[in-house]
Amino acid sequence: MIRLRRDRSPADPRPVAHRVVVFSVEDTTAQITWSALGPGPVRVRAADTTVDLQTDGGPGAALIKDLPPNRLLTVTLEGEGVPGTQIELKARTLAPPPGAELVRVATISDLHLGSRRFGYFGTIVEHPIPAIDHPERCAAAALAAAVDWGAADIVVKGDVTDRARPHEWRTFRRLTADLPLPVHVIPGNHDVRATGVDARHAGRAFGLDITTDVATHDRPGLRLILVNTTVPGLDRGHLDEHTPAVLDALADADPAAGVLIAVHHQLQPHRVAEGWPWGVPRAEARRFLEAVGARHRHVLVTSGHTHRHRRWGHAGVTITQVGSTKDHPGVWAGYVVHEGGMRQVVRRIDTRDILDWTERTRDAALGLWGHVAPGRLDARCFTLDWHRPQPGAGGASGGSPLQDTTR
Ligand SMILES: [Fe+2]
Ligand SMILES: [Fe+2]
Repeated sequence: MIRLRRDRSPADPRPVAHRVVVFSVEDTTAQITWSALGPGPVRVRAADTTVDLQTDGGPGAALIKDLPPNRLLTVTLEGEGVPGTQIELKARTLAPPPGAELVRVATISDLHLGSRRFGYFGTIVEHPIPAIDHPERCAAAALAAAVDWGAADIVVKGDVTDRARPHEWRTFRRLTADLPLPVHVIPGNHDVRATGVDARHAGRAFGLDITTDVATHDRPGLRLILVNTTVPGLDRGHLDEHTPAVLDALADADPAAGVLIAVHHQLQPHRVAEGWPWGVPRAEARRFLEAVGARHRHVLVTSGHTHRHRRWGHAGVTITQVGSTKDHPGVWAGYVVHEGGMRQVVRRIDTRDILDWTERTRDAALGLWGHVAPGRLDARCFTLDWHRPQPGAGGASGGSPLQDTTR
């Protein structure tokens, strides 16, 4: 991470560089992001790839493509927009999962359409009020990026709306109606508000594919299982009542295929929750994972709800939390299924308008949000090889310790 100066007088022509980091890696790409860089031209180089940018002293992002897989690379930034002679970052590209690529699925979550504020005290707002509020702009940009990346399906992991109000559901329908791929929705706690149109009825009312219990979709090499963890009137989530249906869905899944289980509430890895919001309690989460891990060996469970990024493992199952589209760092996630494994990638939404907002929302929680939400790079981007034990492998009774990569 590069930390130089954050604030600069407009009259000061010297370039700045602040929080220039490798946010995301795939097997052949790396996404570099910054809170401030420039102004001036910048050349980014890694391996045989060169990207030329025009920076303006504000936030930005660059995607470096055509990189060699599974290599530790030096990324250099140089030019008039870089203070000093150059900036050097290290990036390790992922190893691709074994075998041929079969399908790509993308997820987004925690859109909170209809909200206008962020922060524990709701003090981060847009001034002046824009024609299109930031949740809608963020969701539209995330959906466009996921389609461009090559997703065959998009799963929306809850908190589509902020208060389940009819106009919020209509906004979501408008954003997704013309997309060239299926969009599946799992409700979040914000979508089951008694004051709005509950997600259990919104599917029919607004013509949306919303999972009210458990749904499965088969794609090449993949069984996608969507689970509604919400309980009307409660903010926290539960899984017990859906476990039998999930086990049924696993029983006739191809044992050689991958399984992606998508839920809204995080499965809490610790006895004491990391912090608000509460998810599925640890004991219930472990019961679910032990049953799932005993039934299928190639399972990744992913949630939203916390707006943070974490990864852990239990009973041979890998579990992730992925952040929101609309607050720092402002992301979408992709899952690439191969014959012998699956990889997850999380990328920041990289348009300037969105980065301006998601950089501002770093300041939530008395300035801690920018440190808490992104998590570690290896919690966001990683490869699972079905022929190697996953973190926490050992089965329900294997007694292996919980391997935890959260922080
Ligand atoms: Fe949320
Ligand atoms: Fe939530």
